[in-house]
Amino acid sequence: MDSIVASQLPITANVNDLGHLEVGGRDLVDLQREYGSPLYVFDEATLRENCRIWKRAFEDHVPRVQMFYAAKALAYSGILDVIRQEGWGVDVVSEGEIRAARHVGFSSKDVVFHGNNKTPDELRLALEFGTKVVVVDNEYELSVLSDLATQAGKTVPVMIRVNPDVDPHTHEHISTGQLDSKFGLPISTGLAEKVCRQASEAPGIKPVGIHFHLGSQIETVEPYLAAIDLAMKFGAEMTQKYDFRLDFFSPGGGFGVRQNGTEVPTPEYFASRISERFQESARQLGVALPTLLLELGRSVVAQAAVAVYMVGSLKHIDGVRSFAAVDGGMSDNIRPALYGAEYPIAVANRMDEPATQSYRIVGKYCESGDVLVNEAKLPTLEHGDLLVMPMVGAYAPAMASNYNMAYKPAVIMVSEGEVRMIRRRESFEDLIRLES
Ligand SMILES: Cc1ncc(COP(=O)(O)O)c(C=O)c1O
Repeated sequence: MDSIVASQLPITANVNDLGHLEVGGRDLVDLQREYGSPLYVFDEATLRENCRIWKRAFEDHVPRVQMFYAAKALAYSGILDVIRQEGWGVDVVSEGEIRAARHVGFSSKDVVFHGNNKTPDELRLALEFGTKVVVVDNEYELSVLSDLATQAGKTVPVMIRVNPDVDPHTHEHISTGQLDSKFGLPISTGLAEKVCRQASEAPGIKPVGIHFHLGSQIETVEPYLAAIDLAMKFGAEMTQKYDFRLDFFSPGGGFGVRQNGTEVPTPEYFASRISERFQESARQLGVALPTLLLELGRSVVAQAAVAVYMVGSLKHIDGVRSFAAVDGGMSDNIRPALYGAEYPIAVANRMDEPATQSYRIVGKYCESGDVLVNEAKLPTLEHGDLLVMPMVGAYAPAMASNYNMAYKPAVIMVSEGEVRMIRRRESFEDLIRLES
């Protein structure tokens, strides 16, 4: 098997005597026959292992830490439930995600509420259900939240999301830490301090910490270290100037995962360097060590899933290239088209055959940009071959659409040979149910 593919598959993956790829003790060819394609197959063992590795990595280095899963990466109940069982909390950004967290039984103290434009209704819901903190992103939100909390006779713990102006060196569409960003309150322009002061004076609001999030798929630790220095110093200043507590501190999430050959630091490396700098910074500033809150999405779920597609049309254009079209594409995974995400790909029913041909793997939707893999080296493809794409657990099914009236794919979870349906494939009836 290709080494890049092998390094990105779920931990239970292996090739059986038929040359077929198995995940969670199940042959993907059999699963496609039973559930159709495109099919998203989650491996429960990988999901649990990722939760444990990351949790342990931080707990080994920091006395008080709480792990949160960024539900935006994928918020289906079957996924959230496993993560809850692993002792994680959840970071939510919308009414739907708040309700999804409640639906699977997360308690209020395990929910943090994010977003750059939370609506009054969403804030009301967060107040009603209760959250550990609301992470305030801007002045308007603070004033609406203060009014709503006062009306409800409550006091809401809030963290202030600062923008430290640190470039995480990732794709601009998934970068949030630089000054020119819709997220967070810049420290350098004075806006973050203004909102911290307002938070310390606003009725119904109790400021308890500082938060930043630099972006996603961050492949080095240095941006975190630079931002921790700035944000901790800022937080310490706020405690001296205002009625502001630094009980909690969060460097967000965004840890990169292996992408088509790129190497990224291990969880242990990210966790030890971040924890070290965080504790060193608290010591130097003379503040009591806050509880560290982490919010991981991609690094928890990406590797836990593979997508299975069936090859349909094959087209060779002399002197140009060969195209292989599959039965899914941008409707179930828009990430390659949206921001150039790269995935390896292999033939699930012929894993042991040598890769001899180059193909562009395209979807079936009506956009030229509907490309899943720009150039893949594969065995000579035949109609009906099954392609397997690793690392699709994060932000792929979460961003699925009904473009071309596509039915969102089935998502299943496999564990020791057993299959659980996480979300069945949509039908035409599902698509027209809300129309009048
Ligand atoms: C505030 C916040 N926290 C955490 C995350 C999770 O990021 P990732 O999935 O890259 O870990 C995001 C995602 O963009 C986010 O916006």
